[in-house]
Amino acid sequence: MTKQLDGRTIFITGSGGVLGSTYVRRMLDQGARVISTDLPGHRADALKAAHEGNDNFRFYDLDVGSEEQITEIFQRVMADGWNPNVILNNAAITGEMLMGAGKPFPDFADTTVADFERTLRTNLTGAFMIARQMDRDIVGKYPCTLINVASMYALNGAHHPIYDGMPFKNFSAYGVSKAGIHGLTVWLAGYWAKRQATVNTIAPGAVFNGHSDEFQRRVGELIMAGRMAQPDEIADVMLFLASPQSGYMTGQLINVDGGFSAW
Ligand SMILES: NC(=O)c1ccc[n+]([C@@H]2O[C@H](COP(=O)([O-])OP(=O)(O)OC[C@H]3O[C@@H](n4cnc5c(N)ncnc54)[C@H](O)[C@@H]3O)[C@@H](O)[C@H]2O)c1
Repeated sequence: MTKQLDGRTIFITGSGGVLGSTYVRRMLDQGARVISTDLPGHRADALKAAHEGNDNFRFYDLDVGSEEQITEIFQRVMADGWNPNVILNNAAITGEMLMGAGKPFPDFADTTVADFERTLRTNLTGAFMIARQMDRDIVGKYPCTLINVASMYALNGAHHPIYDGMPFKNFSAYGVSKAGIHGLTVWLAGYWAKRQATVNTIAPGAVFNGHSDEFQRRVGELIMAGRMAQPDEIADVMLFLASPQSGYMTGQLINVDGGFSAW
């Protein structure tokens, strides 16, 4: 039986996280070969353990902030004949990761330039460097697509009061980086248009990941659907974007946010 992603070889960054690991599982189920990458650590280890022995799965350590690593990994996968036709810029620093467990989240006035720039380096410059490597190695040689990942807080401001008393907040650099991501998408869409390369942005809404009942209630009031998303509900749309069925789309921002952005 034909599967949605037969013939697709998908390169994904930050694949060990909540959404990334869901995408990898669903993409493998749909017949794709998946080149999975992430920083070394417990997320990567869990992902490798989950797909050990699957011939359609490969894992590489990759820090998207490193130009050298990006160039090297692309060379390695292509030398092995795993030429990706879908690239997914999924890696990101979230506020929680930025500060580290237990470290108090700074107010805006106390935000350091170093923390702000570190977030941009991964979330935005990293996505640029992956896209640039794709341009150098793939675009124009065979049809391909890039999927950039933004957020419901890319083009909408954060609702700061819902974070009152929570152990995490919405970090200024996060929204800035995610707005920039869509700028990269629309810039590249025209630049690649004549070379059989498409590029779109997916903007997920709030995804449930063990949040407290109180946080779910607060954020649920902002969402038409009245609740947070399950990772598989974002993956449903991601699989479509990674499939040949999205071939006539380029330069688009696809909100998968339960209606958050439509009020
Ligand atoms: N979960 C949500 O509610 C939500 C909502 C909107 C957008 N998003 C976006 O979806 C994507 C995936 O989010 P998630 O919820 O799975 O987050 P997550 O924190 O669970 O996973 C992010 C992954 O990125 C990796 N990463 C961080 N820095 C990296 C670097 N320098 N190089 C390579 N990998 C690095 C982490 O190791 C981690 O595995 C992100 O771009 C995020 O901004 C998530």
